[in-house]
Amino acid sequence: MSTSKSKTSGRRGEPGDPCAVAIFGASGDLAKRKLLPAILNLRRSGLLRDEFAVIGLATSEMTNEAFRERVAGDLRIFAPQDVDTDLWKWLSERTYYIPGNFRSPDLYSRLAEGLRDLETRHGTLGNVVHYLATPPDFFGDIVERLGEAGLTAETPESFRRVIIEKPFGNSYDSARELNARLLKTVAEPQIYRIDHYLGKETVQNLLVFRFANGIFEPIWNRRYIDNVQITVAETVGVEQRGRYYEQAGALRDMVPNHLLQLLALTAMEPPSSFEAESVRDEKTKVLRAIQPMSAEEVLVRAVRGQYGAYRAEPRVSPESQTETFVAMKLLVDNWRWADVPFYIRTGKRLAAQHTEITITFRRPPHRLFADTEVADFAPNVLVLHLQPDEGISLTFEAKVPGPVVKTGGVEMSFNYADHFGRTPRTGYETLLYDCISGDPTLFQRADSVETGWSVVEPVLDVWRALPARAFPNYAAGTWGPKDSDELLARDGRAWRRITS
Ligand code: BG6
Repeated sequence: MSTSKSKTSGRRGEPGDPCAVAIFGASGDLAKRKLLPAILNLRRSGLLRDEFAVIGLATSEMTNEAFRERVAGDLRIFAPQDVDTDLWKWLSERTYYIPGNFRSPDLYSRLAEGLRDLETRHGTLGNVVHYLATPPDFFGDIVERLGEAGLTAETPESFRRVIIEKPFGNSYDSARELNARLLKTVAEPQIYRIDHYLGKETVQNLLVFRFANGIFEPIWNRRYIDNVQITVAETVGVEQRGRYYEQAGALRDMVPNHLLQLLALTAMEPPSSFEAESVRDEKTKVLRAIQPMSAEEVLVRAVRGQYGAYRAEPRVSPESQTETFVAMKLLVDNWRWADVPFYIRTGKRLAAQHTEITITFRRPPHRLFADTEVADFAPNVLVLHLQPDEGISLTFEAKVPGPVVKTGGVEMSFNYADHFGRTPRTGYETLLYDCISGDPTLFQRADSVETGWSVVEPVLDVWRALPARAFPNYAAGTWGPKDSDELLARDGRAWRRITS
C-alpha cells in the first residue's frame, strides 16, 4: 500500500498508517521532552492506530521494562497534558528498547530482528520510520548501517522513512556532502528533514492566511508593502549547550533553517496546489531569489552581536568570537519583491521571548489631511505573532472622536487561544503524523536546505575572516547591539517595538 511516494491523505484526519518508529537517541532530551509526549498526543487525538510500536535505541544497557519505567517518569514531567492510565497502557504495551553503539553493525541486526518481531506482534506491516534524534555526526553512519542491514529497502507493501533532525550540515558544502551521502542509501522521498518551526501551528497557518483569504494576496507585493521584519527573540542564553553553540553561533543555529523558512512562507508565490512538491518548489524558488551578498555588502547588511555574560557560560571560551545575535537585510530579486527589504533578526538573552513576522505597508500616496491637525500618520502594520502567543493583528488609523480632525493608531487583533482554545502540544505532533502518513510538505527537501546554506555562506566567510572586534557588544535583556538598530535607521526605518 505505502512506499514513500508523497501522500496528503493524513490531512483529512485519518489515523496514520500502521508502523514502527525507531528512535535513535531515545534517552536524549528531544525524545523525552518532545517525541514521546507527541506520540501520546497523537494517540489521544485518534491519529495513531493500534498497529503501532516504538523502539528506543541508545547506548545505555537497559531492559524493555526499565525503559518503559523511565519513559513513564519522563512523561509525568514533560507531557503537556496528564497521561491517563489507559493511554499509558496503550503506549507501554508497544514500547521496546535496544541498547547498542550506533556505529556497530550488531545493533542493526538486533534492530532488524526487533522490527520483524513487531510486525507479528503489533501488525506494523513492515512500515518503519527511523527517527535520528542524535548528534549530527551520527546521521551519515546510521543511515549507511541501516542500509547495509536492509532496513531502508522499501517494498510495494511497506515504507521505510528516515527523519533527520537539525542541524543538517554546518555549511553549504557539508550540507551537500551529507545529502549526497544519504542519497546513496535512501531516495529523496524517504528523507524527512525536520525544521521544527514548520511544525508550529501559526507557521503552517501562514499558508492558510495568505492563500485561503482573497483579500491579502492582491496587496502582498512591492506596490503595497514597504518592508518585512522577522524577529525570533529568545530570553534564554546558551544554557548547557555551550559546546555545540560555540561551533554553531546564532547564524548557523537559526538562520538557514528557521528564519529562512519563515521568510520563504511569507514571500513564496502561491503554489498551484497543496501537493507537497508544489509547495516545496515555490519555497525553494523564493529562497533562490534572495540576492547573494558580496563581501562588501556583508559588512553593511549583516550585524552580529554577543551578549555580556556569554563568555562566562559553561563550555564557552573566555575569548569566544561566537555570535549570539544576528540581524540581516535581505533582498528578494523577483517581480513581487524587488527593492522590498526583508530585515531578519534573532538572538539569545534578548528583552523578550517573542517570534513575529511584521509586514509594514506603504503609506497612502496622497496626503489628504495635510491642512488639518493630522500631520503624519503611521503606516498600516500587519503582525503575525508566532510565539509565545499566537495571533494576528493589524494596526490602522482611526479618527479621534470630536470636531477636530485628528487620528490615532488603533489595533484589530485576533488571538488563536481565544477563538480555538489552547491545545497543549509539543510542536512535533504534526511532523510525526505527516511522516507516518507520507506527507513531506512540512519537511525540507535537499535543494531547499542547500539553498538556505548558500544564502548565509558569504556571511560565514566574511565573519570567519574578520573576527568581531567589539564582542561582547550587547547587554543581556536588551534588543541586541546598536548596529542592529542602525541597520534599519540607515534606510529610514526602525524595528517594530515589541513590548511583551
Ligand atoms: C533550535 C536552536 O533549533 O531552536 C535553539 O538550536 C533555539 O538554539 C530553538 O533555542 C528555538 O526554538 P523555539 O521553538 O523555542 O523557538
